[in-house]
Amino acid sequence: MPEYKHILVEMPAEYPRVGVVRLNRPKALNALNSELVTELMDALAAFDADDGIGAMVVTGNERAFAAGADIEEMSGASAADMQASGHISPFDRIREIEKPVIAAVSGWCLGGGNEVAMSCDMIVASEKARFGQPEINLGVIPGAGGTQRLTRAVGKALAMEVILNDRKLSAEEALHYGLVNRVLPVETYLEEALKLAAAIAARASVAVKAAKAAVNEAFESSLEDGIEHERQTFYALFDTADQKEGMSAFLEKRKAEWQGK
Ligand code: CAA
Repeated sequence: MPEYKHILVEMPAEYPRVGVVRLNRPKALNALNSELVTELMDALAAFDADDGIGAMVVTGNERAFAAGADIEEMSGASAADMQASGHISPFDRIREIEKPVIAAVSGWCLGGGNEVAMSCDMIVASEKARFGQPEINLGVIPGAGGTQRLTRAVGKALAMEVILNDRKLSAEEALHYGLVNRVLPVETYLEEALKLAAAIAARASVAVKAAKAAVNEAFESSLEDGIEHERQTFYALFDTADQKEGMSAFLEKRKAEWQGK
């Protein structure tokens, strides 16, 4: 595995087919400088291309998932500098990842950090997680999808408060409003995220990828187009070995053995 400067990457033996990326700038609360974001996206893309991996977990530490884009790196820039620097565009690469990605979040999950978490497919939070988009305090707005993804996740009324007035959400609030999947004690949230990733990674991988793409389509297209995408995907899966195996196994009352094709 390649050496990275700001992230740690592993494939824990206890959680088969799971790739883990840990953001690792603890002194700066995992502030996302462009090097870190590029490393994160490179690591996710490498796992995505690896047949031995079925799902990924992105995490930070107990105190911070990530406290946002690196303010020091951006502070002196002009609008033209920001356009030219490509500071924000690496965040978009997460949309190209086809396998499921779970964010395991504890502590601060702010600004670009929350935008990374929301770009993942599911969020498992610790009781200590705090979510927010505090860019307004810096005289700017979210720049890596926050206004769009938060609004889709929690609705307009709450998104307006979070983004316009720096309302932070506790883990329980985030659960209540549908931003996160589950909330666990700080001692077990990561283990839970890894278990969830391992469970998904053990499933029929072509169908898992197709399911992720189909759910995402709900945010990208009209209902009619989304339903058409789903139907065509459903039909296409009947040409996979896993569909034959899955349905035969059901009829023969045995456990399916997935081939991932
Ligand atoms: N960028 C750069 N450094 C950061 C940072 C950030 N986003 N967040 C924290 N740090 C650094 C601090 O500067 C500090 O460094 P030093 O020890 O060298 O001074 C270190 O991390 C610890 O932070 P604090 O001392 O501030 O810790 P705290 O517990 O008192 O406060 C906090 C925690 C409330 C999260 C506070 O650090 C904070 O408000 N951080 C900034 C949050 C923010 O505004 N995020 C949005 C960034 S812009 C963005 O993300 C744009 C986008 O949409 C892409």
